[in-house]
Amino acid sequence: MKLAVIGTGYVGLVSGVCFAHQGNEVVCVDKASEKIEMLRSGGVPIYEPGLKELIQTNTAAGRLRFTTDLADAVRLADIVILAVGTPSLPNGEADLSFIKQAAREIGEAINGYTIIVTKSTVPVGTNEKIAAILAECTDQPFDIASVPEFLREGSAIHDTLNPDRIVIGTASELAREQLTALHAPLTSNILVTDIRSAEMIKYASNAFLATKISFINEIANICEKVGADVTKVAEGMGYDNRIGRSFLKAGIGYGGSCFPKDTQALIQIAGHVDYEFKLLKSVVEVNQDQRYNVIRKLEAILDNLQDMTVAIWGLAFKPETDDVRDAPALEIIQTLLERGASVKAYDPIAAANFSKLLTHPHLEYCESKEEAARGADALCLLTEWKEFADIPLPELERLLRKPILIDGRNVFREEELSQTSFIYYSVGRPSLSQGVREQNPVLLF
Ligand code: UDX
Repeated sequence: MKLAVIGTGYVGLVSGVCFAHQGNEVVCVDKASEKIEMLRSGGVPIYEPGLKELIQTNTAAGRLRFTTDLADAVRLADIVILAVGTPSLPNGEADLSFIKQAAREIGEAINGYTIIVTKSTVPVGTNEKIAAILAECTDQPFDIASVPEFLREGSAIHDTLNPDRIVIGTASELAREQLTALHAPLTSNILVTDIRSAEMIKYASNAFLATKISFINEIANICEKVGADVTKVAEGMGYDNRIGRSFLKAGIGYGGSCFPKDTQALIQIAGHVDYEFKLLKSVVEVNQDQRYNVIRKLEAILDNLQDMTVAIWGLAFKPETDDVRDAPALEIIQTLLERGASVKAYDPIAAANFSKLLTHPHLEYCESKEEAARGADALCLLTEWKEFADIPLPELERLLRKPILIDGRNVFREEELSQTSFIYYSVGRPSLSQGVREQNPVLLF
């Protein structure tokens, strides 16, 4: 099939490349000419394992090209995929201005029957608005469909080529047939629904996953107080198929470009129809507070952060990405700086993006994890990059001025730590003092 993909962010670029890899003819469109130039010359504007190679193979095979000319790409396409950004407005609602502008341009360009598919995450009812805009701009026949995207950064290609399910929301029989044919090589789990349900599935899925994370983080906070181990609790819960094992890793809360934005947007969507989504509001609140546990733990050990030097390992919102959007590291570092600490930060690939968000005379970006740790009064691990777990703990102990380790992702194991003199706080697991497990608290009931 001939596809035009509008927007070369994570979703657009990865979907376009994967559809080309399946043998379709794909043109990826973006207004940002520097991005298109970069893609044409073999560069990739985002870090995503395997993406560069897949772009090279499919460009060389003549199935994939990049352009700034939306009209030209749309004219030639059977299916147009809308994957432009829907950033948050200050009140949490999704900003649909890019979607509406793209819909107008698509409407002016379509030439013969075209299916317009929305992959961007949009509030319920948006696809109907898109259809109205298209109808104002063209008298050519078209159908619309909502096909939400569930890929995760860092494993985006794997997720796109091996989806758990494909949701196709459309009222058109012809669109249903063509979109089912397009996605059939990827999975047999294809769910066809009405458009509004498809739009809702995306928000409900992300909100549920965010809920799992905030739930396990609260369980972790209780575990710390009653002397239980959240990793064991999560394992024990996860064996129950009704609960499942995934998304029960306690830590410093979720970040990234989707969960924070989509949970806020769903709260707003509910509010517009006079429904208060109380549970989701709490999920967001718990998530916001969870990152401050790192500061609370540091202050419990050091009393005062004034003039302390704190090493930070990990700035990205999760490993295998250079994305720092809504990364917990941002607020944690800002708070440390506000409380008078100096910060030495290291991330394998996300420091350049992070430094665009935050510069400060007392914030130093380091070239290695060792450089960040050297001479620091404490170390906080905020992203579970593999290279952090690989460091021999005696070496880390020698690098730090004080052997204080706040592990925000439960990366280190008690057996390793018991050979050291670390004061060690993790999330929802017993803390260690000089390698020795702290006494279980006295339970007052
Ligand atoms: C998410 C959804 O998983 C994906 O389906 C959707 O399309 C986009 O949003 P992504 O943001 O790339 O994907 O990352 P994900 O792996 O889901 O992690 C999101 C955040 O949750 C990260 O900050 C991660 O550290 C955190 N997380 C995840 C936890 O704290 N605990 C967990 O058990 C899982």
